[in-house]
Amino acid sequence: MTVLVTGGTGYIGSHAIVELQNAGHQVLALDNLCNSSRESLLRVEQITGKPVPFVQGDIRDASLLSRVFRDYSITAVMHFAGLKAVGESVVRPLEYYDVNVNGTLMLAKAMNEAGVFNLVFSSSATVYGSPESMPINEQCAVGGTTNPYGTSKLMVEKMLQDVAASDERWSIALLRYFNPVGAHESGLIGEDPSGVPNNLLPYVTQVAVGQRERLSVFGGDYPTEDGTGVRDYIHVVDLAVGHLRAIEYIAARKGVSIFNLGTGRGYSVLEIVAAFERVTGRKVPYAIMPRRAGDIAECWSDPARAKQELGWVARRSLEQMLADAWRWQSQNPNGFQR
Ligand code: NAD
Ligand code: UFG
Repeated sequence: MTVLVTGGTGYIGSHAIVELQNAGHQVLALDNLCNSSRESLLRVEQITGKPVPFVQGDIRDASLLSRVFRDYSITAVMHFAGLKAVGESVVRPLEYYDVNVNGTLMLAKAMNEAGVFNLVFSSSATVYGSPESMPINEQCAVGGTTNPYGTSKLMVEKMLQDVAASDERWSIALLRYFNPVGAHESGLIGEDPSGVPNNLLPYVTQVAVGQRERLSVFGGDYPTEDGTGVRDYIHVVDLAVGHLRAIEYIAARKGVSIFNLGTGRGYSVLEIVAAFERVTGRKVPYAIMPRRAGDIAECWSDPARAKQELGWVARRSLEQMLADAWRWQSQNPNGFQR
């Protein structure tokens, strides 16, 4: 296969390219570098020993997309490009709907014109809103999203379902990620957030490396075992392997397939802090603070469908996720130094 990877220089996209290349597929990375660096692909090349062709550009640029589909024999698309900061989406909703919804619309139109109908889309567990019971399987209701980011993912899911219903040539996988963390075991690529991290793990590693004073734990009074929020953390390499399975799966069937990608097990914020200290030997000072607006108490997946249909399970342990996140952070204290 020749796979167009939008958002290919980003955190998850770069790890997916490693798995695609290691499995013998051809790739073309497309990214406008608004939240990533070209350096990540040079690192990918070090890992795989293969060149990664790259086009710098925006998924909303119709003429660029048609050029890409004309010049390269793309057979499938993994679509990671998008904006992902929940809090920022509340402040800048137009940008989020433009990049995430309009950007995917432009991409789907370009694919349609080029006769490329295989698409794997980065969705999120956020589409489930505030589910009433755990674990969450794919039949659980979606909706009740609490911010424009989540709503944009839901809108794209619905749009792609309508597109597939209108034309049976489409094969689409909607992958609902739980909480991606960790880094490639080489320590060469990883998550490189700009500014103050929104997510737990990059914040923890930046505290441990001495860049930030202490972690704010958002809420100590949730109805969970220790009062802090519980999430299903998944190693980014397991997630990348899930994409590889999904793109191979849809090559052999039509319509829309939806998969949760998670481990099926939740950990609280304090469990993460304790495990991180154990694995790395570093202290992570923290303070319990008020809850963060829009957060839910707990969220973990039922990953049974992905196991049954894709033959995929998340294999890497919490300890490995934390050790790999720490290796990346400590070897690259300033990330890719954009
Ligand atoms: P990331 O920011 O590292 O990667 C996204 C990439 O898209 C970046 O390299 C960015 O420069 C690029 N991009 C943004 N707008 C673009 C545009 N208009 N044209 C071209 N490129 C553009 O984020 P990530 O964590 O790798 O996330 C990848 C995808 O997975 C996103 O769609 C995100 O919403 C989704 N997702 C992420 C998480 C998570 O916690 N990381 C969870 C669920 C879903
Ligand atoms: N948390 C803290 N302190 C921090 C950051 C986070 O206590 O500095 C807590 C949160 O309150 C939550 C847990 O750590 O209980 C995880 O928070 P993250 O921000 O890392 O992740 P979320 O579960 O809020 O959201 C993530 C992604 C979303 C995605 C969602 C579900 O950021 O894009 O997972 O896939 F939609």
